[in-house]
Amino acid sequence: MEFSSRILHWYYKNQRNLPWRASKEAYKVWISEIILQQTRVAQGMDYYTKFVSTFPSINDLANADEEEVLKLWQGLGYYSRARNIHFTAKYICTHLEGNFPNNYKELLKLKGIGPYTAAAISSICFKEKQAAVDGNVYRVLSRVFEIKTAINSSKGIKEFQNLADSLICEEDPGDYNQALMELGATVCTPKNTNCHNCPLQSICLGFSKNTFKDLPVKERKIKIRDRFFTYYCIEYKDQILLKKREEKGIWQNLYDFPLEESEKEIDQLAEPNVSYLKKLIGDNEFSTEKINCYKHKLSHQHLHIKIKHIKTNYLEKHDKLLLVKKREISKYPVPKPIEDFLLELN
Ligand code: ADE
Repeated sequence: MEFSSRILHWYYKNQRNLPWRASKEAYKVWISEIILQQTRVAQGMDYYTKFVSTFPSINDLANADEEEVLKLWQGLGYYSRARNIHFTAKYICTHLEGNFPNNYKELLKLKGIGPYTAAAISSICFKEKQAAVDGNVYRVLSRVFEIKTAINSSKGIKEFQNLADSLICEEDPGDYNQALMELGATVCTPKNTNCHNCPLQSICLGFSKNTFKDLPVKERKIKIRDRFFTYYCIEYKDQILLKKREEKGIWQNLYDFPLEESEKEIDQLAEPNVSYLKKLIGDNEFSTEKINCYKHKLSHQHLHIKIKHIKTNYLEKHDKLLLVKKREISKYPVPKPIEDFLLELN
């Protein structure tokens, strides 16, 4: 049996019942594919369901505030993707009369839509023969064909895309793409691989040579930067000081607390840096209620975070800071460690 027939047969018997598969509406497939680039299906489903019930159409999304979009994205990470989705929805509604582009080439022109997303949308919604290559597909193909070229090298990206293009089936490229991803997500997994239930086992070189565990190969190129944050969660009369992160970089347009960054780890039990605190609360008395520590890993940075909960009876006025009632704080989009801290606060 041909490669694509094996995959499709398996898929028709084993596919998961996922909410975005029912409609094939480009708007919904787009949202699902962006969410699935950063999380697994199990976690992504709740985000997807909430997102499309809040914004059932591209027009609803285009008319929303960015803050509402970021709030729905809270916890998923890669917030630039949420900002791009919002930007592109507005663009489609104002420049394309609300019509989602219906082919690969036009989709690629949109902000936040790269080759993978354009291939996924155009194949699933418009039956265009475009191979979508995501992490799951790299894993399956590298193992079945025992390819040792690094998947994150430019040579590897071309080689895998060419191979995927040569394998894709004519009849239903959308189902075929999803079948390959589904196989990678549920059978040909990074660990605890389930080769005995794999429709490709008899043609898989990685299986017959027992090399699949070492595939795919990835080059380690990025240098991880360690950063050390001390946050001051300042409470004043049942209100908390928040700061909008307007600067470019991580968490742009999300809210956090006043922040001091240092070159290295600061002793957890050290007293708060009084001169920094003075800028916020003047010479007034304060108490340190508790200090929580978090390690937060991003793709290029490891954040070592301490959050100090400070109570005070006086606060200086600050243009850039926002005083928010504790019971209203959940309306604001915040980074994950701040969310965790706030959940524990009461
Ligand atoms: N991973 C990303 N997109 C997917 C899809 N459409 N089906 C299965 N797994 C996926």
